[in-house]
Amino acid sequence: MEDIESDALLGSDIIFRPIQLADIPEIHLFPVTYGDSFYKRLLKPGFFTVAAISKGQVIGVATARYEQRSYFDKALSYVIQRNRHSYLCTLGVRQDFRRKGIGSALLQEICRVVAKRGRCHSIALHVKTENRAAVDFYEKHGFIRLCREYQFYEIRNQLWDAFHLIKYLDDINRPHMSPLSLMLSSFFIMIITIWSTLTFVPRRLYSRVQYLLEEELPT
Ligand SMILES: CC(C)(COP(=O)(O)OP(=O)(O)OC[C@H]1O[C@@H](n2cnc3c(N)ncnc32)[C@H](O)[C@@H]1OP(=O)(O)O)[C@@H](O)C(=O)NCCC(=O)NCCS
Repeated sequence: MEDIESDALLGSDIIFRPIQLADIPEIHLFPVTYGDSFYKRLLKPGFFTVAAISKGQVIGVATARYEQRSYFDKALSYVIQRNRHSYLCTLGVRQDFRRKGIGSALLQEICRVVAKRGRCHSIALHVKTENRAAVDFYEKHGFIRLCREYQFYEIRNQLWDAFHLIKYLDDINRPHMSPLSLMLSSFFIMIITIWSTLTFVPRRLYSRVQYLLEEELPT
């Protein structure tokens, strides 16, 4: 599998490459615990992964996928004239390696990979509003807030709000926001926010059933 070059952390012993099957048992970096089936799915086509490796150990991962778009997202994408988007599924650095620039390097790499290999114009993500460190981190890296989604995450039976953030990946494709398109996109963002609030319960039920079915299926 091809290694990924990185401009960041040049001169250190850290290398960046896609996640491999053998890495999966080692990846327990996040506040949310994902099962092995989650990571196995990330190795399939349509997903992009970057692992930071130091002395043979995985010290950080970033994973992304093409964004599955809802009807309203498609309408919004029409207004801002974009057609290929990605979504950051996870980003995490091992606790003892934080604040050394590794998260920034991983984010830089995954953005480069989805822009170059996936030909995506943007990368979006959700982050818990309470996770100030991560919100600051993403905003420092040029992400902007699309909206706040209420009770987006359910973690150990507790519900948490999330910010929906987005970063545009190149200046050429940055949307030109005329007053009309700004007004239209604000309207669509309002509709999306109302829609996501109203459909929260059915969507949670659907994803829970899907998750339970996947856990039951033999791999
Ligand atoms: C968010 C995370 C990936 C950042 O990784 P990292 O390697 O520590 O980040 P960096 O060293 O590249 O930090 C870059 C900048 O982000 C900001 N930042 C990072 N961690 C921060 C913290 N705990 N508090 C405040 N700002 C923070 C700072 O501005 C920092 O620059 P500085 O160190 O020069 O002040 C890491 O804290 C992490 O793995 N957290 C747990 C998982 C998680 O919350 N993931 C994101 C939600 S999906």
